[in-house]
Amino acid sequence: MNEPIPTLEAFDEASLDKAFAALEKQARESAAAMDGPEAVEAFRLEWLGRKQGRLNDVSGLWLKAAPPEAKKLLGQRFNALKATVDGLLEQALGAGPSDAALAAEAIDITLPGTQRLTGAEHPITKTLNEIVSVFAGLGFSVGVGPEVETDFYNFESMNFPPGHPARDTQDTLVIANQERRSLRDRLLLRTHTSPVQMRTMEQQPPPVRIVIPGKVHRNDAADATHSPIFHQVEGLCVDTNITFSDLKGTLDHAMKALFGSSVKTRFFPSFFPFTEPSADVQISCIFCGGKGCRKCKNSGWIELLGCGMVDPAVFAFAAEKQPAYDPKKISGFAFGMGVERIAMMKYGVSEIGQFYAGDMRFLSQFV
Ligand code: DAH
Repeated sequence: MNEPIPTLEAFDEASLDKAFAALEKQARESAAAMDGPEAVEAFRLEWLGRKQGRLNDVSGLWLKAAPPEAKKLLGQRFNALKATVDGLLEQALGAGPSDAALAAEAIDITLPGTQRLTGAEHPITKTLNEIVSVFAGLGFSVGVGPEVETDFYNFESMNFPPGHPARDTQDTLVIANQERRSLRDRLLLRTHTSPVQMRTMEQQPPPVRIVIPGKVHRNDAADATHSPIFHQVEGLCVDTNITFSDLKGTLDHAMKALFGSSVKTRFFPSFFPFTEPSADVQISCIFCGGKGCRKCKNSGWIELLGCGMVDPAVFAFAAEKQPAYDPKKISGFAFGMGVERIAMMKYGVSEIGQFYAGDMRFLSQFV
């Protein structure tokens, strides 16, 4: 119940001022004590309620009882009081919770907000993209292939016949329960990106110039420089009259683009089943400039990737689907490089595991 409106004894200015000041004080006090939407509604009913609101009472009891000469003064004060009450209500509705309610809340809105970290490319992705863009600049297109691969694409078509000892160097995980399938159809986690060479040639006749980045798997024990899962970028170029000097020129340019124009390259005889002749590419040591240091084991050179001229046996597999891969008419070169190895060289990282640990202190250095 509302407090009753006191009876007004006199209608002179001083008495009116006093009576209205007392009401205004009450209104302000109860407005200040409001602590939620229910209190605001109660305040509205108390003061502005049509039948039982206090202003209604004032108008009924005071205004009507006033002698005619006091009506004007009283009316002015009534209007002023109503404006004050309206204002208090408006403020309460617009301002949301009162100061008292806010003070009781546990949230300090002056504290700084939660900051979201800006994402950045992982150093492996960054290096992979950089390698790809060097070759894109030479007119190579970009392709991808499956990570779960058949024995045929991963080994047989790359000229690792069943039982060939070179298979042992690329041991991997094989999908279980495939005994009923023929060996060439059995699935495994690809050990290199080279099978995508064959997938590409089966899809398109020469000329081909393509780089293929991707993830590969090996049954390798993890150590400072080896990881059972890592990334490679494969390259393949096939056309008429592609020679070993095209291969040398292409890779020499790529190494200079990746490591700086003063880097030198040299090609050492090597063996890969899918290339003949094959070579390992070495670059002059980027740490000592070729003088010899701990990183290059005092040789001045660092071995970085494998390459060679596509073996005619590989073209023979491609020709089963695309007869234009006739080794008498076309030739080509291929190469494959490890992305982690290149990233480690470029950024001076000595532990390959750092790339996979997800430690922000390491990763945020590459932003
Ligand atoms: N596939 C090889 C490996 O994983 C790398 C490689 C060497 C790819 C020579 C090639 C190549 O295309 O010609 O060790």
